[in-house]
Amino acid sequence: MLEIEGLDVYYGAIQALNNVSLNVKEGEVVAIIGSNGAGKSTLLRTISGLVRCRSGKISFEGDDIQSVSPDKIVRMGISQSPEGRRIFTNMSVQENLQLGAFTRTDNEIATDMEKVMDKFPRVRERLKQSAGTMSGGEQQMLAICRALMSRPRLLLLDEPSMGLAPNLVTEIFNIIGELNRDGTTILLVEQNAHRALEIANRAYVLETGHIVLEGPGKELLSDPKVKEAYLGG
Ligand SMILES: Nc1ncnc2c1ncn2[C@@H]1O[C@H](COP(=O)(O)OP(=O)(O)O)[C@@H](O)[C@H]1O
Ligand SMILES: [Mg+2]
Repeated sequence: MLEIEGLDVYYGAIQALNNVSLNVKEGEVVAIIGSNGAGKSTLLRTISGLVRCRSGKISFEGDDIQSVSPDKIVRMGISQSPEGRRIFTNMSVQENLQLGAFTRTDNEIATDMEKVMDKFPRVRERLKQSAGTMSGGEQQMLAICRALMSRPRLLLLDEPSMGLAPNLVTEIFNIIGELNRDGTTILLVEQNAHRALEIANRAYVLETGHIVLEGPGKELLSDPKVKEAYLGG
C-alpha cells in the first residue's frame, strides 16, 4: 500500500532521515519505534507532504506522492494524527471534527461523525465544548477522531499514547486495534515501544535517521538489542 525507498530529508544542513526504506501492506499495523530525535515525526510529516524529501520515493497505492500537496494526499486516503495533538483549542469539539472532513463533499459526513464517536464516547459527551478545555487524553482522542473524519485508508498516528495515564494508554491501544480490524491500515510511531510492538504486525527501529532493524512486532519484543535500548533491559 505504502512503499518508501531511499528517503533523505534535511532541515537545512541537518539530515533527519538517511536512506530510509520501508513498506506498509494493506491491513497491517506497522510500528516505527525510536528514541527522541530519531526522525519518527519527520518520517510521518514527509509521508503527509508537510516536509519535502531531498531524494527518494514515496508511493501510495502505486502513485508517487513525494511531490503531491498535503491536501491532495488527504484526498488520496492518508491522514495523520499529529504529535502533540494540534487540535484547534478555541474551536468546539464538533468544529474540530468537521474540519477533519474538509476534503469531502459527500453527504455522509454526519453519519461518519456518529460512527467515529461510537468508538470514542468521551468525545461525544463533549461535542459542544471548547476543545482546549478537554484533558490531554480527550484531546488525543479528538485528534484521532479528526483524522478519521477524512475516511483514511492509511492512518498515521504520531505518539498517540504520549503523556497519557496508564488506563488511557490501554484504551487508546485497544481502539487502535479495533480501527485496524475495521479495515484501516495503520502506521504507528511510538516511544512506548512495548505497547507498539505488541500491537504491530511488523515494526522498524529508527536510530538517528537510519532504519537499523525490522521484523515482526513479536520478534522485536524479544530481540536483545531492542530490549536493551527500548524496553528497559
Ligand atoms: N522543523 C525543524 N527544524 C530543524 N530541525 C528539526 C525540525 N524538526 C525536527 N528537527 C530535527 O530533526 C531530527 C528528527 O526530529 P523528529 O523527526 O522530530 O524526531 P522524533 O519524532 O523521532 O523525536 C532531530 O534532530 C530534530 O532536532
Ligand atoms: Mg516525534
